[in-house]
Amino acid sequence: MHILIINGPNLNLLGKREPEIYGKVSFDEHLKNLVQQFPNIQLDYFQSNHEGALIDKLQAADGIYNGIVLNPGAYAHTSIAIADCIRAISVPVVEVHLSDISKRENYRRRSYTAEACASCITGKGMKGYDEAIQFLTSFH
Ligand code: DQA
Repeated sequence: MHILIINGPNLNLLGKREPEIYGKVSFDEHLKNLVQQFPNIQLDYFQSNHEGALIDKLQAADGIYNGIVLNPGAYAHTSIAIADCIRAISVPVVEVHLSDISKRENYRRRSYTAEACASCITGKGMKGYDEAIQFLTSFH
């Protein structure tokens, strides 16, 4: 099984960025845990701060990956283009948010991208990525 993890804007700063909300662990550190936890799954990772680059990567993943774990960052709350892309591809996408977006500022409560996804996991910190992979495994 081949899964792609995509992180959107500012998630390259995990570990340093608002640690009281997002924690002190960098994504590279957590990726090592994921690789150990899921030895039978081929995991690829992509991060970009650019909406178009995220869309290009999602489109290119179609037909190659069995599932995608996507944390779109703030694009979740703004990007109809990413939501359309998720609907346009046939790979199941699970959205992850480290923080519980339903309990934060009003402008974070709606995720346009999650509405296009197979599932959305929020508020579980880095463990959300683990759960998303598990979900995709059962989906597959
Ligand atoms: C986030 C939540 C978003 O609202 C925010 O813009 C982020 C991180 C999360 O993982 O909790 O960049 O996606």
